[in-house]
Amino acid sequence: MKLRHLGIIMDGNGRWAEARGLERFEGHKEGFNALLRLIDRAIEREIECLSVFAFSIENWKRPEDERRKLFSLFESAIEKERTNLKDKGIRVVFSGSRENLEKSFVAKMSSLESYTASGKNLTIQVLFNYSGSDEITRLIRRAVGKGIKSPTFDDLLANRDNPELPMPDMIVRSAGEKRLSGFLLLQSGYTELAFYDRLFPDWNAEMIDNIIIEYSKRKRKFGGLI
Ligand code: FPP
Repeated sequence: MKLRHLGIIMDGNGRWAEARGLERFEGHKEGFNALLRLIDRAIEREIECLSVFAFSIENWKRPEDERRKLFSLFESAIEKERTNLKDKGIRVVFSGSRENLEKSFVAKMSSLESYTASGKNLTIQVLFNYSGSDEITRLIRRAVGKGIKSPTFDDLLANRDNPELPMPDMIVRSAGEKRLSGFLLLQSGYTELAFYDRLFPDWNAEMIDNIIIEYSKRKRKFGGLI
């Protein structure tokens, strides 16, 4: 079965920096560079969709200084990579709540989405201001708001932030933690999982190859016998 949709929980940026006596933010910068390496290989290997956890609702608990620097990294990444992303045929979409984000920031997110909308080579779904439970709450409200009194599971899926995306085939996490932290909570019931000890800033393009090999070993039965 083809690996169409890969989810990545990019963990260990802080530890990577701290191990080098650097500020945690340096780890996030290197994490972003690692992500760029993975994106290129994902296109080569014809993965259709990459979902990445960029900022969770729980991440608001971090010190203001780290949050501020992360947000400025996101903003500069949106500005700097815009043309590159479009030239590579990448479509960027966001998932998460936009309610409590600054209007100017939301405008930049939407502008990147429309600027890259025609990308056909890879969709990157950036989970931003996202939590699995918040997503589920929002999509139930969305379905009910459309007059669906007793939504089915398919109604819920149809009301995701990006309903056109397939379910994640595989979710991987770096830095040794073995949990999903609510990443694509509603969508991950039958997703294959893999956990790697390597800290995210140390991930290179070959990690995509390793992940594809690991995925190819899995027998997906979806509760059936084959
Ligand atoms: C978790 O590492 C990582 C994050 C909270 C942020 C992820 C962000 C990036 C990789 C950079 C930019 C991405 C985009 C899409 C522009 P951690 O800080 O929790 O690491 P730790 O567990 O070692 O402290």
